[in-house]
Amino acid sequence: MSKPSVYVIYYSTYGHVKTLAHKIVEGLKNTDLVNVEVRQFPETLSEEILTKMHAPAKDADIPSVTLQDLESADAIMFGFPTRYGNAPAQVKAFWDSTGKLWSSGALQGKMAGIFFSTASQGGGQETTALTFLPNLVHHGMIYVPLGYASTHLFDLSEVVGGSPYGAGTVANGDGSRQPSAKELEVAITQGERFAKVVAQYLSK
Ligand SMILES: Cc1cc2nc3c(=O)[nH]c(=O)nc-3n(C[C@H](O)[C@H](O)[C@H](O)COP(=O)(O)O)c2cc1C
Repeated sequence: MSKPSVYVIYYSTYGHVKTLAHKIVEGLKNTDLVNVEVRQFPETLSEEILTKMHAPAKDADIPSVTLQDLESADAIMFGFPTRYGNAPAQVKAFWDSTGKLWSSGALQGKMAGIFFSTASQGGGQETTALTFLPNLVHHGMIYVPLGYASTHLFDLSEVVGGSPYGAGTVANGDGSRQPSAKELEVAITQGERFAKVVAQYLSK
């Protein structure tokens, strides 16, 4: 039997979620249980606006996600930075184009995980995932939370992003804080755990 395909699909304005996405991929690949594809949500902002936001260029080697990708995936890990505690418009704009997949039930039963970034500790390390769940639920997708799979989630000795909803980082208001070693380890753990759950589920 061929390995299940896990797609890691992310949006990142300033690179924090992109860094987490690399670690999620590392975790998925560590298990050797799944094949991994990486995609980006398409940008909706103009170059002029992105320049004014001091946003770096996107990774040219990571293709934009398509509806066909969602159909091809056996399971999907979504990553995005918070916008007022919710997913960004870039993610919602793409998701709002999935009506045909919804009506055909194409995503029914596919497993999904979520990881994220916020500027501040209380800025959405739980709500950013929680408020995305209706998008999964309406498609009949199966949310796989991280739970407390990493002991770093109990660590109060320093700032550690992430929550039982998924891996996360805390970027600071000016984006100056980069994902810490512990946050990167949590992302690897989430990738590993997600691969194991997906492989276990799909082999039955
Ligand atoms: C319009 C807008 C709204 C935002 N809302 C929040 C918020 O509610 N809470 C928060 O902590 N950060 C908020 N941020 C900060 C982003 O989440 C932060 O820039 C992001 O996590 C960095 O990730 P990235 O480098 O992958 O883009 C907001 C940023 C923008 C541009």
